[in-house]
Amino acid sequence: MPTSEHLILRELLAHESNWVSGAALAVKLGVSRVAVWQHMEKLRAAGFTFEAQRARGYRLVARPSAPHAVLIETQLKVHPRGFSLLVLDEVDSTNDEAARQLAAGRAAPFAVIARRQTRGRGRLGRAWHSEANGNLYVSVAFHPRVAPERMGAFTLWMGLNLCELLANFTSIAPGLKWPNDLLFDGRKAGGMLTEARVDADQIRDLVFGLGLNVNSPAGGWPDDLARRAISLAEVTGAPLDFNRLAAALLGRILLAHENFADGDYTKTFADLWHRYDVLRGKPITLLEGGRRHHGTVAGLDDEGALLLRDTQGRTQRYRAGEVTLEKAS
Ligand code: BTN
Repeated sequence: MPTSEHLILRELLAHESNWVSGAALAVKLGVSRVAVWQHMEKLRAAGFTFEAQRARGYRLVARPSAPHAVLIETQLKVHPRGFSLLVLDEVDSTNDEAARQLAAGRAAPFAVIARRQTRGRGRLGRAWHSEANGNLYVSVAFHPRVAPERMGAFTLWMGLNLCELLANFTSIAPGLKWPNDLLFDGRKAGGMLTEARVDADQIRDLVFGLGLNVNSPAGGWPDDLARRAISLAEVTGAPLDFNRLAAALLGRILLAHENFADGDYTKTFADLWHRYDVLRGKPITLLEGGRRHHGTVAGLDDEGALLLRDTQGRTQRYRAGEVTLEKAS
């Protein structure tokens, strides 16, 4: 159900850089001009900048760079039934918050976005650097209709969809490094963390978490990340419209989940994998459960496991692990 704030923003965005009369907004919303003005003040406090002129009305000049729920919802193009969005200033981890919301009975699908995480988590128990620095921390909760053994392919499918979207958004092609890293120029711009609760042979619910370096400035990384991490703003050379990108990503995640649940994804998976995979044919070391495996990446199997050909020409499959590309000698 759109609120007055949604309706006002929709009008202002539709007339971007043109004037929208306060009287017309009041009629459209069925409220007084004073009520419109109060909404505008609320939007100003949230980081919007407007020009206001008595005779002409309001004109949107700048949007907030921090996550803003109504701005994201207004620009979202995919609307699964019952979808809801929660935007928080700070949380321990959006994946943990999504799990708590599921446990408290919130209907899926829903998304949790935070400006900052105090205990952002990555794969293999690692921390995810989660300052309030213009980056995206989002988790989307689903009740998927898929068998647990297909979950390996789920994260990869999500990654491929995100690569497609980012390639359109930035005009620079990202790469996907199995199983969950989004790369630009060989540096990590994003990571995915999928967590599922499984009952017997059914997935009860699933949380897909994405950390994406959007607008953090070059030089803003801690020392251990400085040479490995990159933000989209560094890639493109200019800050991105955070809420527009967040809405586009969220829409793509929701759509990709539907395609996955329908089984439609199998038609395009291999093509997209060939387009974005950065490992194919490369010599790598895979660290898996404390053991190191060397070999050349031969591809993926149907469940998203990595196929690694060793020096004796034997191919082994691995469902999880940490890949390091070997330096060319
Ligand atoms: C990785 O590359 O190891 C995965 C990183 C996933 C980070 C995201 S940020 C949003 C969500 N909340 C978390 O605590 N983790 C994921």
